[in-house]
Amino acid sequence: MQSALRAEGLSHTYRDTPANPTPALAGISLSVAPGEFLAVVGPSGCGKTSLLRILGGLLTPDEGRVWLDGKPLTAPCREIGFVFQRANLMPWRTVLTNVMLPLQVQKMAYGEAEARAQALISLVGLEGFERSYPRQLSGGMQQRVALARALVHDPEILLLDEPFGALDALTRERMNLELLRLWSLHRQTVVMVTHNIQEAVFLADRVLVMSPRPGRLRAEIAVTLPRPRAVEMMASEVFGALAQQVRREIDANGGQYVPDRS
Ligand SMILES: Nc1ncnc2c1ncn2[C@@H]1O[C@H](COP(=O)(O)OP(=O)(O)OP(=O)(O)O)[C@@H](O)[C@H]1O
Ligand SMILES: [Mg+2]
Repeated sequence: MQSALRAEGLSHTYRDTPANPTPALAGISLSVAPGEFLAVVGPSGCGKTSLLRILGGLLTPDEGRVWLDGKPLTAPCREIGFVFQRANLMPWRTVLTNVMLPLQVQKMAYGEAEARAQALISLVGLEGFERSYPRQLSGGMQQRVALARALVHDPEILLLDEPFGALDALTRERMNLELLRLWSLHRQTVVMVTHNIQEAVFLADRVLVMSPRPGRLRAEIAVTLPRPRAVEMMASEVFGALAQQVRREIDANGGQYVPDRS
């Protein structure tokens, strides 16, 4: 079954240094349809990671709530797979045992967990590297492992925080195609944060643009490109126009703090 994710009135201020609180998010409401691929873009520091962490139940907002299929979400749950901004692999675990981790947390029998992890490792093209350690892999390979780990327990929701941000352009393009291929198999509900406009338009059904601190939703752009997407589409007029529209919305704030206009 595909899942829907909804958030209403999310606001959050970090108060680690009480004298200097950081307002990260203000009044964000959004709704992601079952099987939809949503991209969230915005300048560095605008609160994208904070938003994703709240959507994943990893951070409790000061205000607002999140619902997963109509049920309040207040803690991480197995329906959600997360890929963090950095691969976040455990250096002392091999590729295989890193990918097995979510299944071990669920107390799945070792043999079954190993078989499922192995299948995912093959799916992301890392067959033969099961016994390698993260330090022995390239950045792109590490992100593939993170993707396999996020998918191994078959989550209905996938939250991706700039999963390919650290990769070179060519590897990134390949990973985007890989991600679309994996998504077309299971049609998870996806929220992907990126600050790459081309990537957002190429992958998503809809692009949300956030304004800088505190992050608010500034615009929503429906991506009218057909599926399956192909790299050649990036040269099309429609693609160019959509990318320009997203860029205009991002630039409209000039990366500056904008007081509440609502
Ligand atoms: N754990 C934290 N403690 C204090 N402040 C934080 C914390 N995490 C984030 N912030 C602040 O909240 C704001 C939003 O941060 P966040 O990481 O959500 O932005 P982002 O859009 O993901 O940025 P980037 O594109 O650089 O990853 C920033 O000003 C940041 O300094
Ligand atoms: Mg971030």
